[in-house]
Amino acid sequence: MSTNPIPQTQAGERKKITVQTLRQMKESGQPIAMLTAYDYPTALALDQAGIDAILVGDSLGMVVLGYANTLPVTMEDMLHHCRAVARGARYALLIGDMPFMSYQVSVSEAVRNAGRFLQEASMDAVKLEGGRERLEAIRAIVSAGIPVMGHLGLTPQSVHQLGGFRPQGRLAAEAQHLVQDALSLQEAGCFALVLEAVPAQLAELITQRLEIPTIGIGAGPYCDGQVLVTHDLLGLFDRFTPRFVKQYAQLRRQMIEAFRAYKEDVERRAFPTDEHSLFMAEEEWQRLQEWMSDAFSE
Ligand code: KIV
Repeated sequence: MSTNPIPQTQAGERKKITVQTLRQMKESGQPIAMLTAYDYPTALALDQAGIDAILVGDSLGMVVLGYANTLPVTMEDMLHHCRAVARGARYALLIGDMPFMSYQVSVSEAVRNAGRFLQEASMDAVKLEGGRERLEAIRAIVSAGIPVMGHLGLTPQSVHQLGGFRPQGRLAAEAQHLVQDALSLQEAGCFALVLEAVPAQLAELITQRLEIPTIGIGAGPYCDGQVLVTHDLLGLFDRFTPRFVKQYAQLRRQMIEAFRAYKEDVERRAFPTDEHSLFMAEEEWQRLQEWMSDAFSE
């Protein structure tokens, strides 16, 4: 009997990944591959590549909308991009990232906003940042039937409080705090946990202690899964590339080359050619010519 936890029909066709699938993957030691997407074609490609989970991250504020950080991203921005992703992905687990101020103000607002991701944007789950200070909101969202992914370590929505995008948990006291937060998030009902920019030993320790899967980004190789911002992986983001990113392509360079080649072709009239044009049938063209001479003769 196969021990592969990735769901398949009897005919061997892929089935939709659920939060339970991720749990089974942890239990059977199968690494989870997650990436971000913000639009339809990327979601389609990730799904075709067999990526297990797609996060519509609020990183879209930086890599798609050009903001300096994720703080200006709104619920409406998130829902708009989530809808596009949901149209492209059929199999991957879809997770919508709750933006800054959508879950911090009150528990009832947090539940209402989490619900909008499922009800209005076809997401399967939500993610939110923070530890013990978020437990009440997480419990309420989970008890509304909405799966929640936690996010600890470098939590970009707290960039000003953290003093920049810097690694977390390097000191024993900080690490201890993170271990306690991770256990509390599990206890509050999170189905998985993102660990961002924390030492590899700490991520390993948390991963071993938790029953729910950990998904690392800049957290070393011992998490149950990994996530990257797709624009970083593809070499599409211009401002900086964090040390923990592995670039699998340099698409920005390829895009610039393609745009330059197009400009040159337009300037030297090498595009479009007959191959890219459509023509009237000869008799229709003749008719038009005749009409022109009648209509415009002096
Ligand atoms: O917004 C995002 O893309 C994220 C990932 C970096 C985990 O939160």
